[in-house]
Amino acid sequence: MKNISIIWTPDLEVGIKEIDDQHRQLFSLLAAFYTNLQKGAGREIIAKMLEDLMTHAGAHFKLEESFLQAHPDLIRHHQLHYDFIKQMGQFERDYLQGDISLAVDIVTFVIDWLHEHIVGIDKQYFLDLQKAGE
Ligand SMILES: [Fe+2]
Repeated sequence: MKNISIIWTPDLEVGIKEIDDQHRQLFSLLAAFYTNLQKGAGREIIAKMLEDLMTHAGAHFKLEESFLQAHPDLIRHHQLHYDFIKQMGQFERDYLQGDISLAVDIVTFVIDWLHEHIVGIDKQYFLDLQKAGE
């Protein structure tokens, strides 16, 4: 199994403690998920961890969006969160239906998505709000 680096780095900081803490937690959950995969954990454990990851992501998006209420383009951000959850739901269904080779693709998808989303979208949105408040 290839080695995927799942580490939260300071360049991912958006500057709001609760949000940064949750982003860090998502990285931890994903790292644990991947460690379990590498250890050859069974489908039940993997499915449970996937479920956990989605629950945390869902709760995180809610909190993040509550912080971004004042942003004029929140709807676009919400749509990106929604698309992510939808994609994860599809992964989960396919995985549970027997496509277990999907698990590594899920990790790759989530880590790429998190990096791209936090750097390209979250940081920009929080910066916009900060600028508007100045
Ligand atoms: Fe976001």
